[in-house]
Amino acid sequence: MKVGILGSGEVAKALAGGFLQHGHEVMLGTRTASKLADWAKRNPKAKVAGFSDAARFGELVVLAVKGTAAADALRAAGAANINGKPVIDATNPIADAPPENGVLKFFTTLDDSLMERLQREFEQVRFVKAFSSVGNALMVDPKLKGGKPTMFICGNDDAAKKIVGGIVDQFGWETADMGQVEAARAIEPLCILWCIPGFLRNDWMHAFKLLTPS
Ligand SMILES: NC(=O)c1ccc[n+]([C@@H]2O[C@H](COP(=O)([O-])OP(=O)(O)OC[C@H]3O[C@@H](n4cnc5c(N)ncnc54)[C@H](OP(=O)(O)O)[C@@H]3O)[C@@H](O)[C@H]2O)c1
Repeated sequence: MKVGILGSGEVAKALAGGFLQHGHEVMLGTRTASKLADWAKRNPKAKVAGFSDAARFGELVVLAVKGTAAADALRAAGAANINGKPVIDATNPIADAPPENGVLKFFTTLDDSLMERLQREFEQVRFVKAFSSVGNALMVDPKLKGGKPTMFICGNDDAAKKIVGGIVDQFGWETADMGQVEAARAIEPLCILWCIPGFLRNDWMHAFKLLTPS
């Protein structure tokens, strides 16, 4: 697939690496291409451009920017370039305030997630929450005791979730579909839980797994 990734941070680079490794075409979008100069040298198959070009390029788009800037990044990408497309939303609504005893602060509420806010503004985008509740180092081909970890996803469009489920599977995860966009109220805060061992004990190598009887 052609994948347009909005972002230049660790998540954008980790996911771009995974897409390239699995034979997809990748264009990263950033306001400052020079930030990605070294990465682009090491990954000559990837293209680097602005938000709108990357969004236009993607049959699948990935949103991997700071949570507070998510809506602005999509506006810069341009509704016309993302409408109708599956968009993986990897963002978390982390507030600028520091964590409290290792517990991150969010700028959303338990009744209104970031992805719902984005879905309300960009009605025609087929958002799928994914990759938001694990660190970038484990996003692609995680090797953990206990087998494949679980990627919790949600979104309103079943066909988009099927496409994203296929990517999640390629990247070495099992998928648990938690339903419609409102489920982001539960998935996004998993990031808070995931980060606690990191902030308290500098332990960042773990992932969630949903255990079932069969
Ligand atoms: N770090 C992780 O391991 C991890 C794991 C799971 C989920 N997440 C979530 O994934 C997202 C990306 O995380 P990250 O650590 O890779 O990077 P980050 O430092 O949270 O965000 C960097 C990106 O945000 C963009 N950005 C910042 N301010 C902006 C603005 N005013 N307008 C437009 N874009 C703006 C930057 O754009 P430019 O390129 O133009 O500077 C850059 O691409 C976050 O929402 C984070 O919560 C992170």
